[in-house]
Amino acid sequence: MSDTCKKVYITTPIYYVNDVPHIGHAYTTIIADTLARYSRLVGYDVFFLTGTDEHGQKIEQAAKARGKSPKAYADEISARFKDLWDEFEISYDKFIRTTDEDHMRGVQKAFEVMYANGDIYKDVYRGNYCVSCETFFTETQLVDNEFCPECGRSTSVVEEESYFFRLSKYQDKLLAWYEANPESILPKSKRNEVINFVKNGLEDLSITRTSFDWGVKLPASVNDPRHVMYVWLDALMNYVTALGYGNDEAKMDFWPAKIHLIGKDILRFHAIYWPAFLMSLGLELPQHIGAHGWWTRNGEKMSKSKGNVVNPKEIADAYGLENFRYFMLREVPFGQDGDFSQRALIDRINSDLGNDLGNLLNRIIGMSGKYFNYAVKSADVTRYHAKEWEEASAIFGRVEPYLYEVQTNRYLEELWKSLRIANKAIDTAMPWAKMKEGREDEAMATIALVANILAKVAVLLHPFMPKTTEKIAGALGFVIDTESYRRLIGKGETLEDIVIQKIPPLFPRIEAPLVATPEPKKEEKKESPKTKETPKKEKEEGVGLITIDQFFQTSLKIGTVVSAEEVPKSKKLLKLQVDLGEERPRQIIAGIKEWYAPDSLVGTQVCVVANLKPAKLMGLLSEGMLLAAKDDEGLSLMRPEHPRKAGSAVG
Ligand code: ME8
Ligand code: MG
Repeated sequence: MSDTCKKVYITTPIYYVNDVPHIGHAYTTIIADTLARYSRLVGYDVFFLTGTDEHGQKIEQAAKARGKSPKAYADEISARFKDLWDEFEISYDKFIRTTDEDHMRGVQKAFEVMYANGDIYKDVYRGNYCVSCETFFTETQLVDNEFCPECGRSTSVVEEESYFFRLSKYQDKLLAWYEANPESILPKSKRNEVINFVKNGLEDLSITRTSFDWGVKLPASVNDPRHVMYVWLDALMNYVTALGYGNDEAKMDFWPAKIHLIGKDILRFHAIYWPAFLMSLGLELPQHIGAHGWWTRNGEKMSKSKGNVVNPKEIADAYGLENFRYFMLREVPFGQDGDFSQRALIDRINSDLGNDLGNLLNRIIGMSGKYFNYAVKSADVTRYHAKEWEEASAIFGRVEPYLYEVQTNRYLEELWKSLRIANKAIDTAMPWAKMKEGREDEAMATIALVANILAKVAVLLHPFMPKTTEKIAGALGFVIDTESYRRLIGKGETLEDIVIQKIPPLFPRIEAPLVATPEPKKEEKKESPKTKETPKKEKEEGVGLITIDQFFQTSLKIGTVVSAEEVPKSKKLLKLQVDLGEERPRQIIAGIKEWYAPDSLVGTQVCVVANLKPAKLMGLLSEGMLLAAKDDEGLSLMRPEHPRKAGSAVG
């Protein structure tokens, strides 16, 4: 098959309609959109799917709480997701809803196939169910015999007639699949977690429920109208019903998926249940399942019940949608958690986008205008800048795999190396000096080198920042499409002779946070399982134990003292500026004057509680606290045994 007709199928999870979208949902969708746009740019035939997951007890309960029918409620929230993706110009090819008739028919068809081949049998389910996670747990998995090991909420005991899927039968086949496909689960570190889980033994899976009815009915051929399908069987099937499975199967040639993008919270469903269902159906398995980490705030997973969600639209409106996309995909290594902060976002915009990219463009607009009336000829680039050209070309030739491994941060890091090459070439070649010496060809070659690097970066950055890069391409006199991708990236050609168009700066500097984000709501805390339920036992026993999660709510960091001075009129306080590896040092007011002379502190390292709410001491803002040990004889600051990078996490 030639590359041009290669089919690439990319999916996001289908999101529950019990919650409005937040930046966690936006993150998955933006990664998927970027991969889809890249694949289209290269010339592949792409199908990009997203949608909403609308059945199950959790949605039924959420609707009831609002006095609405499940369908009316699902319509409303599903539209919120679709509207947001439309506003964000997400390039999905289909938005599926699990309440779509053809989806439901496809799920019934799958049930029939599994039933007919002996993978489904009827029995009684006795066990525990967490509605919030829509997951069954065995007694040994529960915390304190009652609470969900995933989310900490109270589980309920369920005893009902149920159909079971013979998951246990697939244990060895699954292990063989992971073994034979080292890249099936990304990042690779997650693959081991899955393998260990499967090796511990798989139990058959209850796949129907009788205690509520907001779900897909069993197929008529099974004739058991009291049952509805387990929501995860229903939901996972969306990846093939969207292509027509069980209906008009015309689009099934997009199967298997190139990648299912998901968050790590739902890896088990995608890496164990889903491949087992597919094996049972005789369908191929997906090429990759990519599980990213969580966006957190102050170390806690962002979620509505914690009241700590960041509204993606607000952030995109304030900072620019494409700047926000860049930030999300650049800031966090795939698979790891990332703490959302506007400070980090502003830093990326001002520094990566403004300084490295935007200024570079401004520099050559300025120079080409001044010296050559905006004309740029690429003929002499390789003659005067062979080394830089070679280095930059090597980068453009090696970045693609990072993208399909979802290492978007690495991909962008590599592209930025080429911008550094370009910036440095101007600084060392000094075209202005060459012009004075009458060496016009050389000055032109440097400008052309930079224009060509910028052009290629614009093409490769296009899937991340479609409109911004179109503007850059416009300034450089070309259009980004599959054709220019092939010429500039595929074949490594240079730009034709161009006349640069002057454009306004693309990334105006941002000085301070633009959005007021909510602090976690106090009154909602009682709803939070971790604060409400798990401490119960601890209180009874009178032990002040905390969970590891509670401990990690405190962000401890190593800081380097940049300056220290006495606080006038205070016997105890010193005013410190401490570098925590952030955009600017933090001011910390510490009660250590009796034990430390200000000068002795400068340049030394300390351990800082970095996520304390700022407070005022003697009218001075303090943005953190130092850790110290005190006894009768005095006080000692806690410091790392050997110097560590400012901002290193302690824990
Ligand atoms: O699980 N950080 O839907 P869901 C990063 N319907 N990503 C986050 C996040 C966070 N704090 N919070 C949510 C479901 N996500 C099922 C899926 S698929 C067949 C069925 C993202 O609405 C992440 O992608 O709870 C996660 O996997 C997804 O939202 C869960 O969305
Ligand atoms: Mg969820």
